[in-house]
Amino acid sequence: TGALAVGIAGLGTVGAGVVRLLADHAALIEARAGRKVTVVAVSARDRARNRGVSLEGLRWYDDPVALAADTKVDVVVELIGGADGPAHDLVMAALAAGKPVVTANKALIAMRGSALGAIEGASIRFEAAVAGGIPVIKALREGLAGDRIAGFAGIFNGTCNYILSRMRAEKLDFATVLADAQAQGYAEADPSFDIDGIDTAHKLAILAAIAFGREVDFGAVHVEGIRGVSALDIAFAEELGYRIKLLGIARATDAGIETRVHPAMVPLAAPLARVDGVNNAVVIEGDPVGQIVLQGRGAGAGPTASAVVADLIDLARGRAAPMLGVAPQALARRAAVPMAAH
Ligand code: HSE
Repeated sequence: TGALAVGIAGLGTVGAGVVRLLADHAALIEARAGRKVTVVAVSARDRARNRGVSLEGLRWYDDPVALAADTKVDVVVELIGGADGPAHDLVMAALAAGKPVVTANKALIAMRGSALGAIEGASIRFEAAVAGGIPVIKALREGLAGDRIAGFAGIFNGTCNYILSRMRAEKLDFATVLADAQAQGYAEADPSFDIDGIDTAHKLAILAAIAFGREVDFGAVHVEGIRGVSALDIAFAEELGYRIKLLGIARATDAGIETRVHPAMVPLAAPLARVDGVNNAVVIEGDPVGQIVLQGRGAGAGPTASAVVADLIDLARGRAAPMLGVAPQALARRAAVPMAAH
């Protein structure tokens, strides 16, 4: 087989990170994928900007949709972001052309995943959309493929976790730390997506669809962010032996799947309490596996590129993409394992 020819739309931090990782690990990736994985085309607004990576010899498109029409591009990597607009247009164009898509776009998958998945022959991979570098989608759909998932709880937004961690450690107020978090570059273009819990809800809806074999139902997620959390709340919680964390929680109950996002008091002894800074973590309860804890970087160039490249290697190997928006598999029954404290 020849090289897998990649077209990347969106050359921000993550896009440049993907170009860099494919170049730095070219030999390792070729050995594991059984063929070369090569960037041949890119689309980004600013051609002149120095991204710290070599883009020599690549075809450039101002219009991302034109990238999907490039007959030399085998797979489209969408790193533009947003549930609508150019990202959606590009993904639709790629799927219509029969090309697989790899994306880090959590809003797109959470809002449009079921509709996109229903397109005949659609192949969409999105490991990077949830918890950055933590391979949680692969863990659920591969490692835990034989398990019934009782539920999971996690820290899925690095920005909020960074804010809450610094408010606690340095006794700072919310507004001061938010400005800092934005300067670090982890926050969404619209930071209200982070602090109002919407980004966490996107990721939660995607994971719940995978864990419970259902369509993504973003509208069903109860969402509350961290605007109302004060330094005093955090200090009192600490005195009582808790950390305040913004959690995304999904559970199988008698009434169906419960999904919610809100600040929670996490006992100090629980794994999620000690996850600080821009990290993400998720605790999964499965039957028969029991409890699994995954922790790592949830945002940033390297970790997110790691997930995008893993999806590209899956594709190069000819593996099937995760299903979204297909007929629900056997409905998750009542939790077989009680959810332990997060
Ligand atoms: N704004 C997100 C976060 C980026 O802070 O976690 C990764 O999805």
